[in-house]
Amino acid sequence: MAQTTGTMAATPVNRGMNRRDFLKVSGAGLAGVALLGVAGCGGGGGGSEGGSGEFIFSFGPDTSGSLQEVVKRFNKENKGKYTAKYREMPADTGQYFDKVRTQFQAGGGDIDLIGGDVIWPAQFAANGWILDLSDKFTEEDRADFLPGPVESNTYEDKVYGVPWFTDAGMLYYRKDLLDKNGIKEAPKTWDELKDAAKQVTEAEGTKYGFVFQGSQYEGGVVNGLEYINSYGGQVLDENDASKVVIDSPESSEGLSIAASMIEEGVSPQAVTNFTETESQTTFLNGDAVFCRNWPYMYALAADPDESKIKQEQIGVAPLPAGSAESVSGLGGWNFYINAASDPETQDAAYEFVKFCTSPEIQKFRALNGSFLPTLKSLYEDKEILDAVPVIALAGDALANTQPRPVSPAYSDMSLKMAEQFNAAFKGDVSPDEAVKTLQGELQDIADQAS
Ligand code: GLC
Repeated sequence: MAQTTGTMAATPVNRGMNRRDFLKVSGAGLAGVALLGVAGCGGGGGGSEGGSGEFIFSFGPDTSGSLQEVVKRFNKENKGKYTAKYREMPADTGQYFDKVRTQFQAGGGDIDLIGGDVIWPAQFAANGWILDLSDKFTEEDRADFLPGPVESNTYEDKVYGVPWFTDAGMLYYRKDLLDKNGIKEAPKTWDELKDAAKQVTEAEGTKYGFVFQGSQYEGGVVNGLEYINSYGGQVLDENDASKVVIDSPESSEGLSIAASMIEEGVSPQAVTNFTETESQTTFLNGDAVFCRNWPYMYALAADPDESKIKQEQIGVAPLPAGSAESVSGLGGWNFYINAASDPETQDAAYEFVKFCTSPEIQKFRALNGSFLPTLKSLYEDKEILDAVPVIALAGDALANTQPRPVSPAYSDMSLKMAEQFNAAFKGDVSPDEAVKTLQGELQDIADQAS
């Protein structure tokens, strides 16, 4: 994946408005910003230098380039007061998690502010590693945010994170190719998707029918759960979260449909090693008719350096349903503050949190990276809805999202699911075996955690 860290390379945004135009229109006035601010790696003795106003902020690589601009702008506006030092972490959420956890286990580490995955707070909070933000991020503040992401930051009635951007799995498709082949609308079920993929690849010679994230990692867990949930399968009992219920005919059916994509040649065998990056490059290279991915991919299609196909050729729809309904995995990223940083540094970091989650900056990231806002009001912002249709659609998909299990032991559960789902996608184990194995493994983990 091309990285734009530290550059001001213009990523063209949607419908002909570039970033600079947007900034002018929105009055943000970033002229000359290239000369200012710190957006390189952190380090240099740690972020927790009490009173300096400097803090280290961690997040994965940002291909849209918009985050670097936000950091620069914050530093410019707060010159002499606060400085955010952006430390780039691995794109893979599991690898990023391991790094942060290692730092916490070693006594706190030097990262003050973590741009972290929606699945992390239960574990971090249960260990006392992140700050309880209930008093800073007040009930009144929270009321402006989407309830799902706020909920995902709540652990034992305390709020540990501020929702930055949210994520929902979406179906991308080659609208031009479907139209040409008389397919009037996006498939509504996985079986319809298979038929359409076969028809179009045959007629057009497109390399692959459908690509998704089938590798053995967190994204593979999300994809596996979307298949399972779309047939009505669940991991934990709705009424008793200590009870694992993954061993069901529904879960098995979900994994079967995924494996059949590969068996029947709709998806390449290689999809079992695909993360978001490979799915994205394949689809944007014009090599797949359908792709499951997060909203961020839409913005990249406007950039000729990232995409051989154009945004106009792409349609976006809810993920197909199985025998139950269409379900999107709930993803997203939040701000967590290191409980071991000193209070002044924590306050400085919180200023950055407020800045990044303000309507203006969320709108900037929505228009420039198609990141889904967490503020409710932005789903009524005409400029966003017109320029970034994936946000309007994802807004609807957010009503059908399902979170991953909320547990302080989630990271252990995830490793087991990643292993079994991947083995089932590959055909190394049958879907029945996979869910039976997981039933035992996950129940053990849940029992140990309680
Ligand atoms: C996206 C989601 C995140 C998820 C990850 C999996 O970044 O926002 O929640 O864990 O993908 O790869």
